[in-house]
Amino acid sequence: MARRALSLSKVYQLLEPGPVVLLTTARNGRPNVMTMSWHTMMEFEPPLVGCVVSDRNYSFAALKATRECAINVPERDIADKVVACGNASGRDIDKFAAFGLSTAPASRVAAPLIRECFANLECRVVDTRMVAKYGFFVLEVVAAWADRSRKAPQTLHHRGYGTFMVAGETVRLTSRMP
Ligand SMILES: Cc1cc2nc3c(=O)[nH]c(=O)nc-3n(C[C@H](O)[C@H](O)[C@H](O)COP(=O)(O)O)c2cc1C
Repeated sequence: MARRALSLSKVYQLLEPGPVVLLTTARNGRPNVMTMSWHTMMEFEPPLVGCVVSDRNYSFAALKATRECAINVPERDIADKVVACGNASGRDIDKFAAFGLSTAPASRVAAPLIRECFANLECRVVDTRMVAKYGFFVLEVVAAWADRSRKAPQTLHHRGYGTFMVAGETVRLTSRMP
């Protein structure tokens, strides 16, 4: 095996769990959306999701103030819009209008759901103890929606600098992990 030292700045490209998601927030009646790939499952039920949202992002203040958001899971068909939402700020533009994303009201939170995504998770912030140090928010999913007809969703997995792996192949193995 031709193993070579990897620059520490590239480590994230190996461990990025994906799928890349679109995080929506709404503050003072103004919705916004940002691309996010630094998230992790933390508990089965109620589902807890940890995520890193940089305080440089406009979404940070909205998430901190409203303590609500939605995680929307896109597929490759809207990959260009996903990248666009990660390279522009809601401080400057309405990304929904600019990139052609349509919204639907959520049932339990003010943040909108994105119709073009195959799954939508309505979330409340339940722990902010690591926000100041790491921008790490712990979210509880309070309602979840999915298009069950999409059996093998082609989710996007970030490899850095505009490179993505696309999921889709399923393998079945014996495992006791639920
Ligand atoms: C593929 C991809 C993944 C990203 N993942 C994250 C992330 O996990 N956390 C984060 O704070 N920003 C992440 N970003 C950057 C934000 O999406 C970006 O800074 C965005 O412009 C913030 O928008 P806002 O200012 O409207 O909140 C990512 C961007 C891309 C393209």
